[in-house]
This record gives sequence, structure tokens and C-alpha cells, in this order.
Amino acid sequence: MAEEIKLFTITIDGITIEVPPGTTILNAARKIGPEVAPPTMCYYSKLEGSGGKCRTCLVEVAAGSTKDPRPMPKLVASCRTEVMDGMIVKNVTSERVIDARNGVVEYLLINHPLDCPICDQAGECYLQDLSYDHGVVGTRYEFKRRTFIREDIGPYIQLHMTRCILCYRCLMVADQLTNSRSQGILLRGDASEISTYISKAIDNDFSGNMIDVCPVGALTDRTYRFKNRVWFLKPVDAHRDCDKCCGKVTLWNRGDEVFRVTSRKDPYGEVQEIDGKAAWICNTCRFEKKKTSDWVIEGPTQIARHSVISTNHYVEKVIPPDPLNKVLSGREPMLTMNIKNVSEVNTPDIDLSLIPGPATSTTFIERNEIKDIEQADIERLLINDHKQLP
Ligand code: SF4
Ligand code: FES
Repeated sequence: MAEEIKLFTITIDGITIEVPPGTTILNAARKIGPEVAPPTMCYYSKLEGSGGKCRTCLVEVAAGSTKDPRPMPKLVASCRTEVMDGMIVKNVTSERVIDARNGVVEYLLINHPLDCPICDQAGECYLQDLSYDHGVVGTRYEFKRRTFIREDIGPYIQLHMTRCILCYRCLMVADQLTNSRSQGILLRGDASEISTYISKAIDNDFSGNMIDVCPVGALTDRTYRFKNRVWFLKPVDAHRDCDKCCGKVTLWNRGDEVFRVTSRKDPYGEVQEIDGKAAWICNTCRFEKKKTSDWVIEGPTQIARHSVISTNHYVEKVIPPDPLNKVLSGREPMLTMNIKNVSEVNTPDIDLSLIPGPATSTTFIERNEIKDIEQADIERLLINDHKQLP
């Protein structure tokens, strides 16, 4: 008979649980729930060796263990510190932790641009959430900030290094999920940057997962950039038979259009485990299956994390009675004008999810004008428009 493992008792913010030896403080807190778990910007449970870089998960150890109940002198990174039997930990109940976290957020924001209004990650960005909880209005930084030119790494991903917080998650995806790592962190300290060694394209089947693990908007999906805001989209779970990956994804729809495809996420923003395995998805499912007919829809995605995406929550919605129906005694109201028919913008025959880049003025150029313009001219106009985008 297998020897029974003695569990360790740990108390986090006054809640006591038992966990197996070897569990980190962070994972013990995650067993209690997202309200108690410290925030993470670099740790990712499905990536081996992640954590220990960002310091957002700092906690106070008020008692080391039952045998040695002395407090630890410094705050510790909960993603890298294992529990001891009888340990007492303070997270949100510690003023020292909140003060340190405020400092970490201020440090992360030194170089991160405040371009949330135009960033594709807005609404699902962990740095944005942290800034709301711990950010300050001003900055004490007086030096020139780092800026980089945006770089297309492969046909599907764009790297905007100015937004990168150097969490290393994307490098771990490249190392652990793809056959060859063709990018890395170059230079040191303030000059560090993610690079693909002379812009070498990443054409591996699983490279798109870097977009999902990036906690900020540094790596974005080129097929989705600037096409929509995440809070206008309706996420649904869907699957297809795929010979490369599990084929289980979240589709982000607006009406019948599929604007983007991502892996399914858990309450910590990490890719879900399905049948005991991390459900990473391949580039074919992510970038090339953008029609509803490509998928079997399972139903609305439950957004567990605290996010603007969960506003407009449409599961079990209650529609208030429409007083017009009563007045009209069941007759249909007569439309005096259908805005879609007369609008010169938003032309209904343009499928925004299928155009090659973000929509620009030339996307909506009048149909009859298009007939008069050579195709080559249109392409030139589109290219120039895209060059001017931020
Ligand atoms: S690009 Fe994103 S995932 Fe990669 S190191 Fe920077 S912040 Fe992390
Ligand atoms: S999540 Fe622990 S140091 Fe980054």
C-alpha cells in the first residue's frame, strides 16, 4: 500500500487549508480562490520554470512554520516559495504587501506606454487591472523612456516591444511548445528586448500561443489588430476536428462574424486544462478558421476573471417587457428608415473579420468608385493607410 503523504497546513489571509508538501504559496492560495490568490505577471503554471521575474506576487510570511514560527524578514515571491507546515501568510491583509505591490506596478509602468485606448489587449490586460488596483496618478520617473519600432514576427504576430514587461513567458512557449526557439532576450538591463535574431519569422504551428500568454499587449494577433474591442465581442466555446491540436477554442464573435480565435482560459488567465492536458491551440485553428461554419458551437464562454469582458453578460439575461408590443396589439412596428441601407460607412457587404488588416477609410470606399479604380491603386492605398496606423 502506498505510504500516505502528510499534508501541510497553511493559513492565507485567515483561511486555513491543507496542501501536499512542495506546493508553492501561490498555488495554495489558488486552491482557496482568485479572491485570495496574489496577482501574477510572469508565473504561468503550464510553463515549466516560469515565475520569479516580476515580483507582483509578493506576500508576507507572518510565521514560517509550526516548528519555527518566526516571520520571514523580507516579503517573498509566492510563485517561487514552497509552503511549510503551519505557515501563516498575509496577502491582501498586509499593508507591507500592498505598499510593495504599488511600488512594483509603478516600476512596471516606468516604460510601459499608457496607450490602453488603442491597445488590442485593453479589457483583458493584467497590467491594466493591476494599475487600477495599485497604480498612482503620477510618476516619479524623469528619464527618457524606452521605445522600440514595432516588428512583425512571422505572418501572424506583431511584437510591440515598448509594451513588453520582460516576463519571459513567450520565450518559454517558444522553448517548450515549438520545435525550435528562434527568439530570445537580447542585451541587458534597461536595454533588454525580445528579438527574433534579425527578424527571423516564427512559422511554427504553435507560435500563436505566445499571444495568449503575453500578459500585456506586446504580442498581438495580426489578423485581429484594431478590428474590434474585446468588450464588444461575444465569446463562445467551440471545437473542430484538428489533427494538430485539441481543437477546443473560444471564438470571439460579433454577430455572425468570427473576429478572433483564442485558447480557452481559466480564472487566472491561463490556458485551461482539458482532459488533464493544457489545451494549447495550433495556428491553423487560431488564424485560419475564421468562419462560424468551421466550428461546432458549444455555448457561451463563462468568463470567470474580473474583467470588462464580463459586462454585457448575456447568459440567462432577462428581457424587460416591451411596452410597444402592448400598444401595437401584436402588430410589428413599421420601420421608417433602416440605417444599414442608407449608411455610407459600415457597408454591409464588407466582412470586417475577413479583410487583411484593420478597417480604414479606403475599406469603405464607395462601391461604384471602386469600379473606376484599378485594383493595384486600392492595394497601394491600403498599404499606405496601414503604415500610418499606430
Ligand atoms: S512579449 Fe509579452 S510574453 Fe513576451 S516577455 Fe514581453 S510581456 Fe512577456
Ligand atoms: S508571478 Fe511571482 S514573480 Fe512574477
